[in-house]
Amino acid sequence: MANQIPEEFIEEIRKSNDIVDIIGEYVQLKKQGRNYFGLCPFHGEKTPSFSVTQEKQIFHCFGCGKGGNVITFMMEMESFSFYEAVKFLADKSGFTLPDTGIKKESSMSEESQSVLSANDWLTKLYHHLIRYTKDGKEGYQYLKDRGIGDEAIDAFQLGFAPNVKDFVAEFLTKKGFHQQLLIKAGILSQQNDNAVTDRFRGRVIFPIRNHIGKTVAFGGRSITNQEPKYLNSPESELFHKGKLLYNFDLAKKHIRKENEVILFEGYMDVISAYQAGVKNVVATLGTSLTEPQAKLLNRYVETVIICYDGDMAGLDATYKAANLLKKVGCSIKVANLDNDMDPDSFIQKNGPEAFKDKVIKASDTYMSFYMRYLKKDFNLNVEGDRIKYIEYVLKELAMIESSIEREYYLKELSNEYHISIETMTSEIHEYRKKRGIPKDNQQKNRYTNKHTISQRSKKLLPAFYNAEKKLISYMLQDSYITDKVQEELGAGFNVDAHKIIATHLYGFYEEGHSSDISLFIERLNDDQLKQQVVEMAMIPELGNISDREINDYIRIIKNESNDSMNIKTLKEQQKLAEQQNDPLKAAQIAMQIIEIQKHLRNTN
Ligand code: GTP
Ligand code: MN
Repeated sequence: MANQIPEEFIEEIRKSNDIVDIIGEYVQLKKQGRNYFGLCPFHGEKTPSFSVTQEKQIFHCFGCGKGGNVITFMMEMESFSFYEAVKFLADKSGFTLPDTGIKKESSMSEESQSVLSANDWLTKLYHHLIRYTKDGKEGYQYLKDRGIGDEAIDAFQLGFAPNVKDFVAEFLTKKGFHQQLLIKAGILSQQNDNAVTDRFRGRVIFPIRNHIGKTVAFGGRSITNQEPKYLNSPESELFHKGKLLYNFDLAKKHIRKENEVILFEGYMDVISAYQAGVKNVVATLGTSLTEPQAKLLNRYVETVIICYDGDMAGLDATYKAANLLKKVGCSIKVANLDNDMDPDSFIQKNGPEAFKDKVIKASDTYMSFYMRYLKKDFNLNVEGDRIKYIEYVLKELAMIESSIEREYYLKELSNEYHISIETMTSEIHEYRKKRGIPKDNQQKNRYTNKHTISQRSKKLLPAFYNAEKKLISYMLQDSYITDKVQEELGAGFNVDAHKIIATHLYGFYEEGHSSDISLFIERLNDDQLKQQVVEMAMIPELGNISDREINDYIRIIKNESNDSMNIKTLKEQQKLAEQQNDPLKAAQIAMQIIEIQKHLRNTN
């Protein structure tokens, strides 16, 4: 077919991109039995109801109902069009999409596509200048002086924008980009006198990549004390600084491996840490941490190490970020930097090993950080202040679930301030009671908490409905069962969606396919249907199903359709009787209807 990606090609792509690997790049998955579980990336949740099966190559969320195969996942996750999802997966596995006859529908506006392309050219231009030309020499020297070597310059595609009015303007317009577009993208700026100039001039350039590695903006650092110190691209359809994290794309696999991420405030901190061999590192983009950023991190890791500047502003920002991260469900550690240090300056001064050992490995727990942070508000030499301070600490301690952990800090406090542990413990129990926290909760492991799943599946549904779902779930896995159902039931399913799915399935097997759920949903056009199929496919296999069980399901489904048919005709007759002014007959029919309904309820 014209305008379409050949089916065999899509097959290849699906086969070479294992769904667990691909989803694993977005969601921290834990294996449990045959399936993998994690926090659903499509709706907010704290206990995982999102599951992925490797054998069936599908995912499904019991919470929000979303589900599909690896291609659908990419479409949902990245708002990709079908073409873009296939292209993305093809690139990942080293295939080249055939170029002819394919309609390249895009999820992005044409304008955004052009901006991405301009950004791409520009990244390469700036980088080329700094690495290989006279025009970029100042920038190169600046980075050298700050201890940044070639490998990091290449890895982060750092560059230099020469202090020339229209260096970029000329380069990009020659490439065919319109001036207005470049102004809108913040690559060029329009002055008051309408003159158009390059936005970044005389600055070292930090391309800001989104999580799939596309440059969506630039940060430019002045090398001459020019204000502002850092100049960023303006916000746009492509660039929301509150949603991105600097270096997230490169850090992802290291974050996964370490199950920890280090959060910085500055680009330079990230780059220095990278050079020091610490690569699970990201940074905010000049704003405080936002909730979307915190949630993004929570999907990937359990522990976030906050490593902000050691000054007062840094401590305040740490406190805020820590609470936000805790709120979304992350565990927190706080790196401990000296007062006048930022991570970059620490590394430059003390070297990589000291950074790893004395800063990262020596990170404080949240509680230790909090105790340290709180001290700044109190004069601990004054008794009144001291008592207040301890009360604050106890309030915070009361929030900790583990009694062992609480006791650890109580001992510390007791040693330092000579207050008995018993007194403090009873104070803590008071606070806990006030807040309605049950006595010494067991700490919950979020991956063994199955509430969400069992609660939803317990929803009461009529027997025929369940029978249809069960039957289809078997049909999805077995062409023999499908044949039998086709013969005995045909399109006799009562639920419209089930009828449609069954019909598609008959066709699917008739084409000679064997069971392949991921491929099957590929064929369905309707998203709702896809999700229902996936949900049914997630019903665990119950081993070998007997013919008797299948017959039972078929019988239940047939009965329902007979009964509903009867009720429908009876209701019509009842109406007729009423119209004909025959109340006795109408009442008799009503009795019959009630009988059948009773029968239905009993079989259900
Ligand atoms: P260096 O001085 O190059 O080491 O940078 P830094 O990372 O130590 O900078 P700082 O701690 O002052 O700022 C941290 C981050 O805030 C930077 O990486 C920028 O993203 C952002 N930032 C800093 N200064 C400015 C500014 O003047 N304007 C804007 N928009 N962002 C800034
Ligand atoms: Mn710095």
